[in-house]
Amino acid sequence: MKITLGADHGAFHLREATLNYLKENGHEVIDHGTYSTDSVDYPDFVDLVCRDLREEKAELGILCCTTGLGMSIAANKQPGIRAALVHYNDEASLSRRHNNANVLCMGQLHTTAHEAGQLLDTFLSAPFEEGRHARRVAKFTAWENQNPTV
Ligand code: RB5
Repeated sequence: MKITLGADHGAFHLREATLNYLKENGHEVIDHGTYSTDSVDYPDFVDLVCRDLREEKAELGILCCTTGLGMSIAANKQPGIRAALVHYNDEASLSRRHNNANVLCMGQLHTTAHEAGQLLDTFLSAPFEEGRHARRVAKFTAWENQNPTV
């Protein structure tokens, strides 16, 4: 699968573990860094990863920061993005099966490299179940076409 990956300095080690895991498991990765622990701004990586998805350069995205919170909040402001901050395997599974999440967010603070491998395995293999879930996703996707009121 083609995956686009980005992280800030707060998830430098988690990004490395994620990148290695994806490559070892045969995935093709667009790696946007960050490539050191120097301080950077997480929205810049959100922008790169979400752009890849909209341009269909990748099928799914992975974003990592200290907590995963900033990445998920920012990514969900981008059109066409359904980002899920995930800590547990059942969340990884349900975020794909029910919410059709296209970005997995993880935080280095609470997710080990080993756990990340398990979350990735689940997220990348779980299919969207369509049916009633497609109806629900369509309801909030429609909001993207409305004019902002606040
Ligand atoms: C960076 O200090 C930290 O704020 C960032 O990694 C992330 O956790 C933001 O939500």
